[in-house]
Amino acid sequence: MTDDAPDPVARQATGGKIDSFPSMQRTVPPQPCAGAAPPRNIVSEVVISGTGLYQPPYVITNAELVESYNAYAERFNRQHAEQIEAGTVQAMPLSSVEFIEKASGIKQRFVMEKEGILDIDRMYPRFQERADDQLSLMAEIAVDAGRKALAQAGKQGSDVDAVLCSSANMQRAYPAMAIEIQQALGAGGYGFDMNVACSSATFAIEQAANAVRSGSARCVLVVNPEITSAHQEWKDRDCHFIFGDVCTAVVVERAEQATSADQWEVLGTRLATQFSNAIRNNFGFMNRSEDSDPDARDKTFRQEGRKVFKEVVPVAAAHIESHLQSLGFTPQQVRRFWLHQANQSMNQLVIKKLLGTEPTADVAPLILDRYANTASAGSVIAFHEYRSDLKSGDLGVICSFGAGYSVGSVVVRRK
Ligand SMILES: CC(C)(COP(=O)(O)OP(=O)(O)OC[C@H]1O[C@@H](n2cnc3c(N)ncnc32)[C@H](O)[C@@H]1OP(=O)(O)O)[C@@H](O)C(=O)NCCC(=O)NCCS
Repeated sequence: MTDDAPDPVARQATGGKIDSFPSMQRTVPPQPCAGAAPPRNIVSEVVISGTGLYQPPYVITNAELVESYNAYAERFNRQHAEQIEAGTVQAMPLSSVEFIEKASGIKQRFVMEKEGILDIDRMYPRFQERADDQLSLMAEIAVDAGRKALAQAGKQGSDVDAVLCSSANMQRAYPAMAIEIQQALGAGGYGFDMNVACSSATFAIEQAANAVRSGSARCVLVVNPEITSAHQEWKDRDCHFIFGDVCTAVVVERAEQATSADQWEVLGTRLATQFSNAIRNNFGFMNRSEDSDPDARDKTFRQEGRKVFKEVVPVAAAHIESHLQSLGFTPQQVRRFWLHQANQSMNQLVIKKLLGTEPTADVAPLILDRYANTASAGSVIAFHEYRSDLKSGDLGVICSFGAGYSVGSVVVRRK
């Protein structure tokens, strides 16, 4: 349920800048009629009762990545030496492990396929096309993560009555991956795909929580298969180190039917967006009709990293603070923040703005050193790996931010 409470903190904090999105500036919140009973199918409590993680089989370290990219760039520069000398072609700059680790905090990434990415005659993964009657690759990793999440929640596929496949990119237009996953798991109800780039997971958790609250579903499986290696630009040193592959899954269900030993009450969710071209990928079904080059640079991921960093940090901090305030909490009451994993310094700054103190790994754990930026899955990986030490009653915030711009937060409390 998106919290509709007014948002004084965000408005005060903005000073006319973009510290909060217009969509956060709510009008009159819906009020229940005094004394009226809630509709009979409204359930009040929703829990996250399990999470699952699919980890791809291969690791690419920064050293391997830089060696491959630099070999590609040096060959290009040799082959174009005359034009570079004449000033008609720009030399490709070299990458460095030191820059990557200092600028981002990323040390390695998991990938579904490694040879094709490191092959300087290719520089993207090599996947075998599958027949229509075979499980697609995105569905395959989602089914794996989904099964693990269901096992943790003590549920079967047949207990699920909605599947949301929510990621930054979809393998095909239709039929929806979610429906393929629904069938593979033996789930009932319905499934649909959705994409809000790096915020896809939190946006889907809100849809799941709303469906459970309203009674349209009892148990929703949210999956975030992120095969980022297929839309990453491995030939561009500004971003070749950014992404990694992974899949996360989250079970969202009615508290009254949950049997998991590890339940997290969803106290509130809040989503906000504001259009920006600072992170963009123009790949799409119109490309053929536009007679555009399918290999053009704009058909893979690109961003203005520094601009994104500067613009999104204050938005994310203001968003979290105002969401907490609307629920009657301060940031200091939060035991742990599971933040989007794009950049180590970005997360440190968000926490500094919220708490006024230096962040620690205990307050805001980082997983991007091992996984890199996994688009929508990052904050869920952090939640998956770093929650078992929290106690009953402890408060936490899952928050993602990224392209759109988009920001989504989920406030949870351990039962
Ligand atoms: C991408 C990011 C790590 C880059 O770090 P940065 O400190 O902003 O670095 P810049 O892009 O400003 O580049 C600084 C310099 O290093 C250079 N550089 C870029 N990539 C390099 C590399 N791989 N190796 C060596 N040098 C590199 C740049 O060309 C630039 O050189 P210049 O000063 O001579 O122009 C950082 O901006 C970031 O993480 N931003 C947030 C991104 C985000 O959250 N995206 C959302 C989701 S996908």
